[in-house]
Amino acid sequence: MAVTIKTAEEVALMREAGRLAAEVLEMIEPYVTTGISTGELDRICHDYIVNVQQAIPAPLNYNGFPKSICTSVNYVICHGIPSDTQLLKQGDIINIDITVIKDGLHGDTSKMFLIGDVAPHAEKLVRITQECLYKAIDIVRPGITLGDIGHIIQQYAESNHYSVVREYCGHGIGRIFHEEPQVLHYGTPNSGLKIEEGMTFTIEPMINAGTRHTKLSRKDGWTVTTRDRRLSAQWEHTLAVTGDGCEVLTRRKEEQF
Ligand code: MF3
Ligand code: CO
Ligand code: CO
Repeated sequence: MAVTIKTAEEVALMREAGRLAAEVLEMIEPYVTTGISTGELDRICHDYIVNVQQAIPAPLNYNGFPKSICTSVNYVICHGIPSDTQLLKQGDIINIDITVIKDGLHGDTSKMFLIGDVAPHAEKLVRITQECLYKAIDIVRPGITLGDIGHIIQQYAESNHYSVVREYCGHGIGRIFHEEPQVLHYGTPNSGLKIEEGMTFTIEPMINAGTRHTKLSRKDGWTVTTRDRRLSAQWEHTLAVTGDGCEVLTRRKEEQF
């Protein structure tokens, strides 16, 4: 299956799916505090998506994933499984990743939350990672390449002495959760696929404080951690390429664009 170009009607449906995914992140924020379990966060999001939004939480049963959201705490890079025994504590950083399906189309977005007072180095990792995403979004328009996106993220992360995770990447999205192309968060300018109007994809940099190397849990088959157990951060948006730039389909109220 090649890269799909979405019709205006499909983009309109993705705008709705994206809005719903963003609203889940806004809804959950007041709950993301010391003492709550990631399992409870999952239940609250699940019930909101299903009962209020009348949408589908895409992760649930996706390739056997057991929960409705991903919760990735501290040295977990991505695909953390919510658990009733994992309680958030002061100083943690957590990524919550929400994907909803509405009218057959997907919206996929994640953000970092800081639990109480967080060490300055952790706060900085979270901020630089968000800036990696924003710098990439800034350059997206028809005519640039996927390599340009990867390069700007890698450049900024590495100039801050961080590393870019290579085994996991952004992705085309639409009627299918993960479709072509792969959107790498490292790369060479002016290389790779040329971006065209009507493409829809995510950018979701995973940036490590230490080395870029990852480790997949042999126990649950999902949880991805840093090999060196140093911190990792991630932010994600779903974009639609327009005639002269892009639309951030998962924009939250707190964001400008
Ligand atoms: N939302 C993740 C992404 O950004 C994918 C999660 S797949 C799951 O692509 F199965 F772990 F939920
Ligand atoms: Co994604
Ligand atoms: Co996601």
